[in-house]
Amino acid sequence: MSTPLEHGAGLTGRGDAETRRRGDSREHGAGVSAAGGAGVSARPSESPDPVASLLEALPYLSRYVGKTVVVKVGGSVGDEGTVLEDLAWLRRVGVNPVVVHGGGALISHWLAQLGRETRFVEGRRYTDAETLDVVRMVLVGLVNNDLVAGLNALGVKAVGLSGVDGALLQARLRDERLGLVGDVVAVDLAPVEALLQAGYVVVVAPVGSGPGGQPLNINADSAAGALARALRAEKFILFTDVPGVLDRQGNLISQISVGQVRGLMESGVLRGGMIPKVEACVEALETVPRAHIIDGRVPHALLRELFTDQGVGTMIAHEG
Ligand SMILES: Nc1ncnc2c1ncn2[C@@H]1O[C@H](COP(=O)(O)OP(=O)(O)OP(=O)(O)O)[C@@H](O)[C@H]1O
Ligand SMILES: [Mg+2]
Repeated sequence: MSTPLEHGAGLTGRGDAETRRRGDSREHGAGVSAAGGAGVSARPSESPDPVASLLEALPYLSRYVGKTVVVKVGGSVGDEGTVLEDLAWLRRVGVNPVVVHGGGALISHWLAQLGRETRFVEGRRYTDAETLDVVRMVLVGLVNNDLVAGLNALGVKAVGLSGVDGALLQARLRDERLGLVGDVVAVDLAPVEALLQAGYVVVVAPVGSGPGGQPLNINADSAAGALARALRAEKFILFTDVPGVLDRQGNLISQISVGQVRGLMESGVLRGGMIPKVEACVEALETVPRAHIIDGRVPHALLRELFTDQGVGTMIAHEG
């Protein structure tokens, strides 16, 4: 399960990632591999043989074109590096990206501006009524709108929704210790499907519609997992700001089976914000073949994960 890679090796991590991806490729008949995994580089110096890079990418491309890929990004467009560019490329080549975003850091910033404290319980934010107002203003008003504007500026049309729109994410209260935090209990895909059909990139803010129409704060990873599962996405990818899931020594764990997740939780290896992320992967895997937690600081991490033999984080799948 754990690999001997040094901490930070996920930034290059080629040896292990290729082993992992070779297995992935064989299964789908995509056995063509180019040296260096440089297929997404725009710089010729990193791409000695462009045809080899193309041959590496094409089997993956043919797997994803026409399919839905759910991508969870953090709250800040800037912090996610090249993710908007990568999402725009996905749409241009005919993949249907559905984006779910967080916004944790910005919410904490605005709560602090208002003199309000933030408290987390097992990676989820305690949310009273006033905190929920700030959560909605930041997620729906700022972050969602910024992502949509960023994608539009790249020439792909995007539409933002919150989980309240069209009752996309229907939720119930999760736990009284958390206040107005929801768990998704039902997903109405009609608004997302209509927009995908019309060619839009869909960007979803993780606010759900609770009992009696009460909006509820939903952890973005959990919202993304529920959506990926409902959409039967071809792939579920979560960005984070670390190399992936790390073991106790800080080494990247490049692959986890669903069966290993409980042990990791119980041993305390998964803490804080990583808990809802891994739980979201497990939920998505009920219908999605593979889920990945990847390092958003790696340039073009999304294209690398989807279209090259390289992996840039932790893959979670049913088998070990
Ligand atoms: N075993 C682990 N491996 C890697 N990261 C871990 C682990 N346990 C806890 N973490 C923490 O989880 C954090 C990621 O979750 P976090 O909720 O902070 O960010 P996010 O979900 O990417 O952003 P947002 O909540 O705004 O959507 C990492 O920065 C790391 O500090
Ligand atoms: Mg989080």
